[in-house]
Amino acid sequence: MIHKATIDAVFEIARLEEVIGDFVQLKKAGSNFKGLSPFSDERTPSFMVSPVKQIWKDFSSGKGGNVVAFLMEHEHFTYPEAIKYLAKKYNIEFEETEQTDEQKEQANERESMYLVSEFANTFFQNSLLKTEQGKAIGLTYFKERGFTDETIKKFELGYSPDVWDAFTSEAIKKGYQLSYLEKTGLTIVKEEKQFDRFKGRVMFPIQSMSGRVLGFGGRILTNDKKAAKYLNSPESDIYHKSKVLYGIYHAKQAIAKEDNCYLVEGYTDVIQFNQTGVANVVSSSGTALTTDQIRLINRLTKNITVLFDSDAAGMRASLRGIDLILEQGMNVKVCNFPEGEDPDSFAKQNTLDELNTYLEENVQDFISFKASFLQQESKNDPIKRAELVRDMVTSISKIPDVIKREIYVKECSRIMDVSEDVLFDTLAQIRNSDVKDQHKQQKQQNKPLEVVKTETQKQPKVNRQYILERHIIKALLLYGVQEEEFEDLILKENEEGELVLEPEIHNIKVFEKIYLDLQDDEIEFTDQIFKDIYGILIEELNQIDEFKIESFINRIQPEIAAEITEIMMNEDRYELHRWDDKEIHVKQKTETISDYVNNIILSLRGFLIDQKINELSQGVKAQKFENNLTVLEDIRDYQTLKKLLYRKLNRVI
Ligand code: CTP
Ligand code: MN
Repeated sequence: MIHKATIDAVFEIARLEEVIGDFVQLKKAGSNFKGLSPFSDERTPSFMVSPVKQIWKDFSSGKGGNVVAFLMEHEHFTYPEAIKYLAKKYNIEFEETEQTDEQKEQANERESMYLVSEFANTFFQNSLLKTEQGKAIGLTYFKERGFTDETIKKFELGYSPDVWDAFTSEAIKKGYQLSYLEKTGLTIVKEEKQFDRFKGRVMFPIQSMSGRVLGFGGRILTNDKKAAKYLNSPESDIYHKSKVLYGIYHAKQAIAKEDNCYLVEGYTDVIQFNQTGVANVVSSSGTALTTDQIRLINRLTKNITVLFDSDAAGMRASLRGIDLILEQGMNVKVCNFPEGEDPDSFAKQNTLDELNTYLEENVQDFISFKASFLQQESKNDPIKRAELVRDMVTSISKIPDVIKREIYVKECSRIMDVSEDVLFDTLAQIRNSDVKDQHKQQKQQNKPLEVVKTETQKQPKVNRQYILERHIIKALLLYGVQEEEFEDLILKENEEGELVLEPEIHNIKVFEKIYLDLQDDEIEFTDQIFKDIYGILIEELNQIDEFKIESFINRIQPEIAAEITEIMMNEDRYELHRWDDKEIHVKQKTETISDYVNNIILSLRGFLIDQKINELSQGVKAQKFENNLTVLEDIRDYQTLKKLLYRKLNRVI
């Protein structure tokens, strides 16, 4: 259990925009921040963060909430994990009541795997820096590669002793369960025997965007041709190769700042670049680039520069990655290194200035790169040349932006000396068949869902009462404890026995006004969530003088918090879009708070009276009542009331 004091301190100190800023590139938009949704694949930002209210809303996926909700959604943390993460980020002392053995066991499986990985990371670092064998073998190796102490520390490099089970037996001695050692792949279990997977290798921990250790790469130190040069952790519940980029944790800030990401092939390329002073660099670690990896980058920048080793095999593999990047609507540039060099060796031999200059001078647009690379292969061979042109147009066809496509077609025409018309025709052909494929796929995927979809998704919950109820909640959230001057119309019976409304001035708090008015008319919320929120809010507001939405949100159930977030953020969005809700006669901004509150209540009353009148009239028509005359009288009374209400409403407006 986490101590209450820790939780309170976390909520007090954590800044939502900073926490989210570690994962999503945010731009200021009015009083809020906007960015690309980290939960969907989008090109125009619909992700909003309110620093004032400390809440976020993702309009593309519908998710939203407070700082903890973000970490739970994005990093798949549990609640305690999220608190722990924030405590660490903000140097808040983390107080935990001691766990019992039972609780320890209950701690979920993923958490245990993270803990094992964290332990392994520390173990490998210690054995590199503090054991004789580690220093003599591992550290010497890293030093030969030119890594400084600082770099070794920054990338938490380590050494796995050249003993069959050095790590495994130490971990078991420390109480870690063998099953987790096996699940993370750190230990290989064979017929009752246990072996360290990474025996005798130097270790590169692979971290998530938020710095958690997910897995490892281990490099062999001997020249054994039969053994793999690098061994990596196997896929596991915490390590998904296709979703991870080596170095992203150290690079994310720099990528956003430089608005560009260098993509290299290996661990050592990333490290050497960092040491030389170029920090916006990540590696796909030898595997073919995946869409998930590209999306990780896409959250931080639109621009990728792919850096190749100079060997042709590597290049051809990377060419495939380029199409994937283009498909995500990103801009790709390419740069290769002189014969025999890779980013690591080049950075090692050059200063930061030299490296930057080289990159600036040699970076090419993907189209000219592709042309020059493939042209060498298709020299004087017309068939190959035709293939090449088609290949290039295929790449261009992946670009979502039509203007960009056109520019590239022109460029391609110039480089390849093929007429633009032919290229545009080819482009149209390729895109057509792509679109057909997509339709086919979609049709197949959607078929069983079609009926459900139109019914549930196309019918937004916007009827008038819903909107009004929502406005009431909003008024409570924004102005609940504020004291305002209300000119109330008190419903009275005059001498002739008619119902009239007479004005009276009251100075009361907004929430009291709302509560009393709704109670007067016995108005109940029809939307269940609003009803719940209303109940909780009234109770809260009744108890405290200074109401803060952000601390309130942190105390309530997640579903309710999500709804409140939705209300608050939608408000901002509507303001952004100059939305005005004509149905409700609400003039935003220019009116006073009491006008606003009055309008909502009166509108709701008016609406309910309308409903009542309708109901009664229908009943009369259907001959439902014994005495139609008294019912007609009731209807007349309601109509008078309505007239008075609307007169009042018009006066306010
Ligand atoms: N790789 C791998 N398994 C291998 C070989 C390579 O996982 N058997 C991955 C590693 O992530 C490596 C990357 O592919 O960093 C690039 O491979 P390579 O260029 O061969 O390695 P370098 O990073 O250049 O390694 P080094 O300089 O240490 O030889
Ligand atoms: Mn290398």
